Amino acid sequence: MARIVVITSGKGGVGKTTTAAALATGLAMQGRKTAVVDFDVGLRNLDLIMGCERRVVYDFVNVINGDANLRQALIKDKRTENLFILPASQTRDKDALTTEGVGRVLDEMSREFDFIVCDSPAGIEWGALMASYYADEAIVVTNPEVSSVRDSDRMLGILASKTKKAEQGEGAIEARLLLTRYSPERVNKGEMLSIEDVQDILSIDMIGVIPESQAVLNASNSGVPVVLDEESDAGQAYIDAVARFLGEDRPHRFTTLQKKGFFGRLFGS
Ligand SMILES: Nc1ncnc2c1ncn2[C@@H]1O[C@H](COP(=O)(O)OP(=O)(O)OP(=O)(O)O)[C@@H](O)[C@H]1O
Ligand SMILES: [Mg+2]
Repeated sequence: MARIVVITSGKGGVGKTTTAAALATGLAMQGRKTAVVDFDVGLRNLDLIMGCERRVVYDFVNVINGDANLRQALIKDKRTENLFILPASQTRDKDALTTEGVGRVLDEMSREFDFIVCDSPAGIEWGALMASYYADEAIVVTNPEVSSVRDSDRMLGILASKTKKAEQGEGAIEARLLLTRYSPERVNKGEMLSIEDVQDILSIDMIGVIPESQAVLNASNSGVPVVLDEESDAGQAYIDAVARFLGEDRPHRFTTLQKKGFFGRLFGS
């Protein structure tokens, strides 16, 4: 049986799809057979970030409707072994994801995969509810700013009450925080919330801190998950987060301001 993990946030544009692509790729690199599923019906961003947009033939809704089977719709990643992508439909029909249909498809996938990573759309409406409904656990992606933290808090409420597990009386699913677009420099200037501020408000376990990084933009422009850019700060931070996800204990990096070297201090650059 697969472990189903939803990448969610409430607020839009915080880094969910970036994270879903990085986590799924990272898990596959660790030898875990992984599928990443795009629940963002109408938008379809995940296949762009994974660099497989030209290979999309069938999508999630086609499988739900029986127009294609899973084997036809799942795209096997060309770079990473053990990794498959189920793209979102571009239909405008937001009701295309039915509770029964999503459950049926995830159930079939569960038999084949170790992990199913669900990339949630923004907001707290139907698509986001569907992405988290069957989840065994959640990663709540948050930026260090008040509106993002507030929306993550609302999402935690939903995860505690509106999943299948919650409905069956099993209580809240485990939710962990992934703080991203973190800039120690801006925290020092008082322009952003600190890690401690965010943890005080959300009080959940933190699985990673991803720095604000140009590498993320470069990666998504070239359709390569940033976790494969092992030289980059964001890539390394995601590698750490994947290791923590698999139970390893690793210290957080890129969370403090780099001390300037002698010449930096001298010239103030
Ligand atoms: N660590 C980072 N450093 C710099 N830019 C980032 C970082 N993480 C994400 N971004 C940028 O933020 C934007 C939104 O990222 P992404 O698409 O992953 O967010 P999302 O939460 O999936 O958005 P949506 O809610 O629309 O689905 C993208 O332009 C991405 O390149
Ligand atoms: Mg997204």
